Amino acid sequence: MTKLCCSFFLFITLFLQLNKPCSSSLEQLPAPPLPILPLPSYSQLKWQQREIIMFLHFGVNTFSDSEWGTGHENPSIFNPTSLNTTQWASVAEEAGISLMILTAKHHDGFCLWPSKYTKHSVISSTWQNGKGDVVQEFVNAASDKGIDVGIYLSPWDRHDSRYGHDLLYNEYYLGQLQELLKKYQNVREIWFDGAKDPKAKNVSYYFSDWFSMVKELQSSINIFSDAGPDVRWVGNEQGMAGDTCWSTINRSSLAIGSADIEQYLNTGDPRGTDWLPAECDVSIRKGWFWHKSESPKKLSELLDIYYASVGRNCVLNLNVPPNTTGLISENDARRLKEFRTAINTIFHKNIAKGCYVKVSSQRGGKEGGFGPENMLDSDHLWSYWAPREDDKKKEDHWVEIWDNDGDLRFNVIGIQEAIGFGQRIKSYEIYVDGKLLIQGTTVGYKRLHRLDGDVVHAQVVRIRLIEARGVPLISSIGLYFDPFWHSRFK
Ligand SMILES: *[C@@H]1O[C@H](CO)[C@@H](O)[C@H](O)[C@H]1NC(C)=O
Ligand SMILES: *[C@@H]1O[C@H](CO)[C@@H](O)[C@H](O)[C@H]1NC(C)=O
Ligand SMILES: *[C@@H]1O[C@H](CO)[C@@H](O)[C@H](O)[C@H]1NC(C)=O
Ligand SMILES: *[C@@H]1O[C@H](CO)[C@@H](O)[C@H](O)[C@H]1NC(C)=O
Repeated sequence: MTKLCCSFFLFITLFLQLNKPCSSSLEQLPAPPLPILPLPSYSQLKWQQREIIMFLHFGVNTFSDSEWGTGHENPSIFNPTSLNTTQWASVAEEAGISLMILTAKHHDGFCLWPSKYTKHSVISSTWQNGKGDVVQEFVNAASDKGIDVGIYLSPWDRHDSRYGHDLLYNEYYLGQLQELLKKYQNVREIWFDGAKDPKAKNVSYYFSDWFSMVKELQSSINIFSDAGPDVRWVGNEQGMAGDTCWSTINRSSLAIGSADIEQYLNTGDPRGTDWLPAECDVSIRKGWFWHKSESPKKLSELLDIYYASVGRNCVLNLNVPPNTTGLISENDARRLKEFRTAINTIFHKNIAKGCYVKVSSQRGGKEGGFGPENMLDSDHLWSYWAPREDDKKKEDHWVEIWDNDGDLRFNVIGIQEAIGFGQRIKSYEIYVDGKLLIQGTTVGYKRLHRLDGDVVHAQVVRIRLIEARGVPLISSIGLYFDPFWHSRFK
């Protein structure tokens, strides 16, 4: 009885509060529009906002100067003379990277932690007299700096004799997954590929068992594979997403390790039933492992990759391999820092912020809370412009950025969608002073366009939203000046 009374009073109080006149002249603020499914999970949203993450390929290949070990390497060759995982984490921190993924085991089968299911690991190496644990040192160093960790455990194992015997090998693999996810807590991403011995035709990987076990042990983890379930591969190792790139796709059409799906992975599917955003993996050098003969990519190449990955609705997973000393090479660290500085230089100033922004309409009218100012604040997820919805007639939605002095100077245009309500935009056009400059398709979390040629001097930029899966919701618009791009047209 008391309980009932209380809830009754609570109800009355709430009712009165909601009906109190507020500063807005509207009787009630309009609620947000309904989402359009599928939607990202909480962990997928966190992942998307990282924008750039780091892969670290390290193992016996680092010492044998190879990319794919044979599995016959003598474990004693693993001997980083001054391994310092704090240096790895410092390099990541300086580059503004919040997640590092380590190859706990690559195709050669050598394990960087002391697994109890094999001797082919750090136990048999000269490093720390077989008493060391690289994964533990990696996790400790990252967490000291507030950086999250991820793990790659290669399904293909060229060393272990159980490989090729389905049951035995899947038990072995699953045993190692349990070891890793019980011992090292708060793993944010686990990386699976479908690589197989081309000769071992009858090998199958029990992905459903593996994935279920992973989620059971650590539920907030994102599982990466060709088919997700949380993050999908982008279909190439160049770090390049499709010009059209949906975070949605049909998982049921994805067979892990099949070359036929690479194009589909690259673009996603506007009718896709699953939220499965793409991750673009590429190495800062030619190879994935460190080789004395290789050097890091030029800054301009890294920026091209950035625009084609982060700028196309993806997360960039950039590999930076530690060397035989057990450190990230000074050249790579320096290039990574230049990369971060360049990104900050380009995007620190949004020229649109000083401008007048006009929109075709807004949900709930001028005081509805869905106005154009929401596209210029720092919240790129939950603060957005929403146009009016009208079922009866198809409305033309647009945004205009005005500088009355005609002195907008920029060469990059950025748009972000409020993806918490689903990815919607299918096609749009961008006009600068009435001239059509860009015909775009998808936007998603972030879309960046670099304009060819010289810097634009203009009075008005108009973004016309042509087609969307529902009313478009835009969380950010930006005009930027990229001096690195500009200098390429000199
Ligand atoms: C490890 O690297 C960090 C960061 O670069 C450095 O401060 C520290 O002195 C290094 N530790 C050793 C033992 O060299
Ligand atoms: C296929 O698998 C079985 C055990 O599952 C194994 O005995 C056999 O050697 C394998 N065949 C080939 C060609 O790998
Ligand atoms: C994905 O699934 C949806 C819903 O079943 C379907 O309409 C669409 O055609 C599928 N896409 C492809 C490429 O088959
Ligand atoms: C590895 O990188 C560190 C840091 O730049 C450097 O001091 C060391 O000489 C490098 N090791 C090799 C073998 O190049």
